[in-house]
Amino acid sequence: MQSEAPTSSPRHVAIIMDGNGRWAEARGLPRTAGHRAGVERVREAVRTAAEAGIDYLTLFAFSSENWRRPEEEVSDLMGLLRFFIRKDLAELHRENVRVKVIGCRQSIQPDIRALLIDAEDRTRDNTGITLVIAFNYGARDELVRAARKIVQDVQSGVLDAAAIDEAAVSARVDTAGIPDPDVVIRTSGEQRLSNFLLWQAAYSEFVFLPCLWPDFDRAAFHEALAEYAGRERRFGAVSAPGIAVGS
Ligand code: FPP
Repeated sequence: MQSEAPTSSPRHVAIIMDGNGRWAEARGLPRTAGHRAGVERVREAVRTAAEAGIDYLTLFAFSSENWRRPEEEVSDLMGLLRFFIRKDLAELHRENVRVKVIGCRQSIQPDIRALLIDAEDRTRDNTGITLVIAFNYGARDELVRAARKIVQDVQSGVLDAAAIDEAAVSARVDTAGIPDPDVVIRTSGEQRLSNFLLWQAAYSEFVFLPCLWPDFDRAAFHEALAEYAGRERRFGAVSAPGIAVGS
């Protein structure tokens, strides 16, 4: 689904929260300390986004590739997610935040799966910002799962094979019903997508910031929004009259 929001005000902001480990290492702390500091910035980012009138904020919390990290770090990240949902859910609910989770639900601990489902269920009717938590998420895995759904729907007669189009795919990825991100922000200076929202980010703007995620405060968020506001989005059309552009 393509957003029609003007460049100056993104409707959907997606963030790759990177640099927790480097932040901790620079202070002689264990990597897990960086993730803990990162959770504080998650809270701040949700508030900043809501105040800025953003409708959807997607945060890359745990990728399907993050299981390859040392067991202790994975376990700490799981603990932080549990803690965040248990401690912050009531407050997010009070603040009218709707929680949505994307990613593969298989192979995650049953208690975390239950917490995530409960967070979605309890906040389903909220009308404020939607916080999309990408957990056990990988875009290629998401596209494989979408392809399987399409095959199932064709086999069961719900979908005509000749009618498979972009909308049919968009309706079967995890973000079905959510507009594509207008901008993808990545902290820590790395400049790649790392298997995040490959389908949805086809026309997104990218903002790469040097700051590490635990330093991504309100001011840094506004800096990223200002950079986005200066971009011209063309969706493959033309720019000013007479100037043909290719992207
Ligand atoms: C990348 O930093 C960050 C992550 C893999 C996890 C992000 C998680 C949080 C901010 C906390 C949990 C989130 C929620 C929603 C409660 P890195 O470890 O790759 O940093 P590095 O590249 O410097 O090593």
